[in-house]
Amino acid sequence: MTKPFICLGIESTAHTFGIGIIKNKKVIANVLDGYKTEKGGIIPSEAAKHHIAVKERVLATALENAGISLEEIDLIAYSRGPGLAPCLHAGIRFAKELSLKLKKPIIGVNHCIAHLEIGKLLTKAKDPVLLYASGANTQVIAYTGGKYRVFGETLDMGVGNFIDTFARSAGLGFPGGPKISELADKGKELIEIPYVVKGMDVSFSGMLTNLEQKFKSGKYKIEDLAFSLQETAFPMLIEVSERAMAHLHKKELLLGGGVASNKRLQEMGGIMCLERGGKFFCPERQFLTDNGAMIAWLGILCGKNSVKHDKMEGNPKIDIFPYERTDDVEVNWK
Ligand code: ATP
Ligand code: FE2
Repeated sequence: MTKPFICLGIESTAHTFGIGIIKNKKVIANVLDGYKTEKGGIIPSEAAKHHIAVKERVLATALENAGISLEEIDLIAYSRGPGLAPCLHAGIRFAKELSLKLKKPIIGVNHCIAHLEIGKLLTKAKDPVLLYASGANTQVIAYTGGKYRVFGETLDMGVGNFIDTFARSAGLGFPGGPKISELADKGKELIEIPYVVKGMDVSFSGMLTNLEQKFKSGKYKIEDLAFSLQETAFPMLIEVSERAMAHLHKKELLLGGGVASNKRLQEMGGIMCLERGGKFFCPERQFLTDNGAMIAWLGILCGKNSVKHDKMEGNPKIDIFPYERTDDVEVNWK
């Protein structure tokens, strides 16, 4: 029997510091520690300090959960972007440290593509359109012409940040997603708020202002506003995802990002797929939000581009890329 291949992945693009370990095609650990603030807004340098403070403990827990020793790791992968530079720095520094210590190769991978690839691995989707709906990001991504490309995205804020901002101004605290979802279940009346789809893109800023004004007017129940938010914002996401599927002749929709844990969004995705004879996929919550396992898995897929531990200093590949676009990435693992 051939020796199993084990990759350790480090995620640190924003709030979350995560370490995942994948043995061949199996997730054997996925541990995270999130930087939290009262207000929910992120101060990059503070988040980076958090990541540095928790990294050793997260690593120890991950190894313990996996039941392996550090020496058994064959490859170190880290999230190279897109993300906040100070947070990315915390991740790459730890990755380099481990690579040198273990004398094992290192590889940087793209965060957005990692969301898609872990979803494929866990759900067995083959060639899906990914609706990546998180706090900071909202994109529709699919593979075509040799690359992963973005077919639609938000023109202003991510859908999660939009929901969180409204929830905060309505005094619901942070994160707003689960609270809005709970309230929406009790809502009955659909209130008209701006539905903004421009071509393949979506926009939430107009809807946010409108919801805030309606809340302040005191004329509407918060349950109905939450219900209307979900019944307006989510169909916008499903509409652009469906259009990408039709345009690309793809039959599968895959969800990713923290907002994808919303049951109503999942239901809408399922119905849309059913109606067009497609298939709907959604991994469990721990793999929807930012996590180290997805970085480890993309590390395994891109493994042949890894760099030897003693060749990493000054190597342009072993760097952070805070603004890396999805279609900048050469896909050579398919
Ligand atoms: P990324 O770097 O991928 O943008 P992030 O930290 O901004 O990551 P995630 O961790 O993927 O985002 O997700 C967090 C978001 O998910 C928050 O905006 C939160 O309100 C939202 N969320 C969580 N649960 C739900 C839910 N049930 N319904 C709607 N939104 C949810
Ligand atoms: Fe993410």
